[in-house]
Amino acid sequence: MKKHFIAEMLMALAVIGGEVPYAVAAPPPQMNAPASGQSLYMRLGGYDALVAVTKDFITRLATDPQLGKFFTGLNDTSKARVEDHVIDFLCVATGGPCIYTGQDMKTAHTGLHITEADWNSSAAHLTETLNKFKVPQKEQDEVMAAIGGLKGDIVGR
Ligand code: HEM
Repeated sequence: MKKHFIAEMLMALAVIGGEVPYAVAAPPPQMNAPASGQSLYMRLGGYDALVAVTKDFITRLATDPQLGKFFTGLNDTSKARVEDHVIDFLCVATGGPCIYTGQDMKTAHTGLHITEADWNSSAAHLTETLNKFKVPQKEQDEVMAAIGGLKGDIVGR
């Protein structure tokens, strides 16, 4: 909810100032929603739902015997930063009113050497998370399609 407020304040300031600030990365949800209905972000349940889903997903990755190695060596502040960035990234990617200030996906994952097998286990974890939160199949397919498009930037770098 807080992020909506900040985004709205930035847009309000932009209107007062007569120009769009460079920091506004995504328009408000009603502008970004498909003409036929709500954005994927809204259908997933909005900001609080996205936070809960992302935390569950990251915890699964970080505690997986095969994938945990990627998250060792990050101090608590770095872990919190990554988590915040993943939330904001997914918010923007699903049409939400957030601002993503992290690295692009290629830069963020270059040097990690994430393999195809790592990717497949991560996708399985994401499905478990989405099932846990009872996300309907249509929305699950849309999330997977959005994430699938990032594979080339994340795997084998
Ligand atoms: C499912 C698609 C994925 C998305 C949308 C995603 C998104 C992100 C984002 C937004 C960041 C933060 C970048 C920053 O702080 O500037 C990040 C960092 C990171 N990601 Fe991913 N990621 C994905 C898949 C993966 C996978 C499969 C792994 C490994 C199993 C992984 C491991 C990491 C690690 C270790 C970092 C921290 C890098 C660092 O700051 O040192 N990610 N990811």
